[in-house]
Amino acid sequence: MTRLIQEKVQIEPADGKLGVLIPGLGAVATTFIAGVAAARKGLGKPIGSLTQMSTIRLGKRTDDHSPLIKDFVPLAEMDDLVFGGWDIHGENAYETAKRAEVLEPALLEELREDLESVKPMKAVFMREYVRNLEGPHVKEEKNKWELAQALVEDIQSFKKSNGLNRVVMVWCASTETYMQEGDGHKTPADFEKALKENDPCIPPSMIYAYAALKTGVPFANGAPNLTVDIAALRELATIQKVPIAGKDFKTGQTLMKTIIAPGLKARMLGIEGWFSTNILGNVDGLVLDDPGSFKTKEESKLSVLDVILQPDLYPDLYKDLNHKVRINYYPPRKDNKESWDNIDIVGWMGYPMQIKINFLCRDSILAAPVVLDLVLFMDLAKRAGMYGIQEWLSFYWKSPMTAPELYPEHDLFIQLSKMKNTLRHIKGEDPITHIGLEYYK
Ligand SMILES: NC(=O)c1ccc[n+]([C@@H]2O[C@H](COP(=O)([O-])OP(=O)(O)OC[C@H]3O[C@@H](n4cnc5c(N)ncnc54)[C@H](O)[C@@H]3O)[C@@H](O)[C@H]2O)c1
Repeated sequence: MTRLIQEKVQIEPADGKLGVLIPGLGAVATTFIAGVAAARKGLGKPIGSLTQMSTIRLGKRTDDHSPLIKDFVPLAEMDDLVFGGWDIHGENAYETAKRAEVLEPALLEELREDLESVKPMKAVFMREYVRNLEGPHVKEEKNKWELAQALVEDIQSFKKSNGLNRVVMVWCASTETYMQEGDGHKTPADFEKALKENDPCIPPSMIYAYAALKTGVPFANGAPNLTVDIAALRELATIQKVPIAGKDFKTGQTLMKTIIAPGLKARMLGIEGWFSTNILGNVDGLVLDDPGSFKTKEESKLSVLDVILQPDLYPDLYKDLNHKVRINYYPPRKDNKESWDNIDIVGWMGYPMQIKINFLCRDSILAAPVVLDLVLFMDLAKRAGMYGIQEWLSFYWKSPMTAPELYPEHDLFIQLSKMKNTLRHIKGEDPITHIGLEYYK
């Protein structure tokens, strides 16, 4: 068989310690940090993480060669991760994890020392972008430019004081109010001018992302905020040769949507309506109770079906699809979100049917492995010389970033195949096409 890919990409080794800097040490971040600490101590397994648990097939099915992904590409070890971050509350990760009530108190006690050592730095925060939160632990520099410089110093001193070789940043802070790309977002020069003029077009998430890019730190955006989607920061990522990825971790209901919708479409079953509702009682739920933050989330959640179902190509099946998403803040549920989906589908001769999904999930338990994989893959991308938008990581996002002229891939199985083929590609292995005709020659 001809080899389609001849050359391996040069990948620098994953030597030394990898810093993980997290704006937003809340439920997701502390569940992630606690899980890594627990896995290191043998107190739990990193279930849900492809970097830790998934294999990757190489060569033909008859070759019987499927190493673990972590044995195939050089990834940082969980033992080499050092955590830090920023938050407006000033609590250490143990205190936050306890308050979030995601993990059992007994497990938290066993991890107490590891978690107490993660103390947030003072945050860059402005209430006009997240209306339902306030906190005392914030920086007080005089404008957004100086706030960006303060974050650059934080990153440098975190790196130095922990003896780190490399750092990755993952935004796990709250969802900011809805924004669209504007004049201050066009070029890096426009952006810097806007920073200096304290322009309202720059929310905190963009200031963190700017500081990351300026210091050569890959940036992944776990919330649906605009953040690195703007032309100025995309260009800066290219200039600085830094990977960026986003946005909005794909976890509960949207994960289900991107599993089920491709299946229905694959069998050419029509969909008339998809009604999704959620109850959620954690701080994220409180933030999303504000209409501005909810709009940001809603846009991210709504985009999925249109792209997967391609109503323009299949008007008979999906043209009039009615898609609704609701999130209700309901404190008694805390992090244990419950979602209901009602899907009105249409079969042979237009006969209607219904599918109901009731997912009793745990938001942060689903998000934590996604954070781990993104940390390790973003670091890999940097060492492999890949920079700008990392579309191969679409698998992890509700709204995957792509080049402006492309539509994103939302189908989970296309995303998985794209990710594994990218890993094969950077290691000089053939992609797997699943044609398989050679077995029958
Ligand atoms: N859990 C999931 O399944 C999931 C899925 C997709 C996206 N997300 C997103 O991930 C983010 C984190 O979720 P969570 O459940 O941990 O929320 P959380 O409210 O528990 O944590 C967010 C933390 O960010 C802090 N924060 C807010 N603005 C900040 C700023 N400017 N700088 C530093 N800290 C700031 C808050 O004080 C809070 O502690 C949210 O944006 C959420 O929408 C979560």
